[in-house]
Amino acid sequence: MTDRPKKLLFVFGTRPETIKLFPLIAAAKAQPQRFEVQVCVSGQHRQMLDAFLQLFAIAPDVDLDVMQQGQTLSSLAARVLERLDPVLVHLAPDVVLVQGDTTTAMAAALAAFHRQIAVGHVEAGLRTWDLAAPFPEELNRQVVGRIAQYHFAPTAWARDNLLREGVAAQRIWVTGNTGIDAVAHVRQHLLPKLNVAERFAFLRPDQRLMLVTGHRRESFGAGFESLCLAIGDAIDRHPDLCVVYPVHLNPNVQAPVQRILGPAVATGRLHLLPPVDYLEFAALLNAAYLVLTDSGGVQEEAPSYGKPALCMRSVTERPEGVEAGAVRLVGTDRAAITAAVDQLLTDEQAWRKMAEVRNPYGDGQASGRILDALGACRSIPTRS
Ligand code: UD1
Ligand code: UDP
Repeated sequence: MTDRPKKLLFVFGTRPETIKLFPLIAAAKAQPQRFEVQVCVSGQHRQMLDAFLQLFAIAPDVDLDVMQQGQTLSSLAARVLERLDPVLVHLAPDVVLVQGDTTTAMAAALAAFHRQIAVGHVEAGLRTWDLAAPFPEELNRQVVGRIAQYHFAPTAWARDNLLREGVAAQRIWVTGNTGIDAVAHVRQHLLPKLNVAERFAFLRPDQRLMLVTGHRRESFGAGFESLCLAIGDAIDRHPDLCVVYPVHLNPNVQAPVQRILGPAVATGRLHLLPPVDYLEFAALLNAAYLVLTDSGGVQEEAPSYGKPALCMRSVTERPEGVEAGAVRLVGTDRAAITAAVDQLLTDEQAWRKMAEVRNPYGDGQASGRILDALGACRSIPTRS
């Protein structure tokens, strides 16, 4: 037992991890008597990560710089494992904190396990029990769940999943999702600073905005083509509709989007943008009439902005939004997406019913709960 500050090492590397960890990192850094904070980025995303580090003023202590264009999952995982190991030896943290379900999170947890360092999992317990969807994230999450000693479940449903898998109740804390802490921060402190009319001068008050994101690996190929065609249909069918799609940098996303949707840009009602920063994305969510997405984080955020979200997946590890009525699963079938978009654009009551649901994913206080749990564990619990 010791009174020295607990050494926390945050390891992350993609856009969503950065967004969901920055409130926690900031809160931990604000308590130097309790926590010594170090940050290691894998660089799994290079451009998308760097933009967010800058926005959130996070200066990494270590950068593994692993990203390669068109990287394979195995080569990516191998580089994280290989390059993180000496960092763990050198920094000797008490706890390695990872977030969610990326290859960085999975490989970092495994590297910590190899060095017998405790792992804390932020956003633990989400499951589909279908290893094919989301792929490879479902397995990544289960692997981290097997390794972690601290499980920070965003909801009671996520906690129950962990209990069912045999995780001891005293290792699980229901905290809310730190992504909702990020939403609270951006809305309170950052959004007022953005001149939306200037940044997105193409947004017109007489048009309704559909904000789109799509990047899931399990949809690549036919599913992706079909969802692009559905977006084209929506533009054809609704003359007052404006679509904004910040397109993920993955070449498997860029290619079909540009090929299928490129010609529709000439309508003036489709805007294919490079990825926008978190503040700009929040402004777009705020301005949107509806959201069409396959993103995990975006389906959690949309209810905070009172925007109905159509989720282009067949299953979700985040069923709370669907059960509450804020999110609807529409898969990637062209006709199903088109019908769901049509309904929201023509049936105001259906739109209102989804828009008025309270966000089930958190209350903006998750970071404090996680740090209280970490601070209260004076010694690292051993596995049962
Ligand atoms: C990863 C995560 C996924 C998460 C997504 C968030 C895994 C297995 N997947 O998927 O869970 O939802 O991030 O966006 O960890 N690229 C760039 N610059 C960037 C980022 C990506 O050029 O800043 C390109 C590169 O060619 C890269 C490719 O996109 O090889 C794929 O990136 P990768 O991180 O492997 O997969 P994502 O699909 O982004
Ligand atoms: N986001 C962003 N800019 C964009 C698209 C998304 O800042 O151009 C944010 C969004 O607000 C959410 C997060 O990125 O917080 C979701 O990340 P992504 O969809 O890449 O990953 P997922 O959540 O599906 O793992």
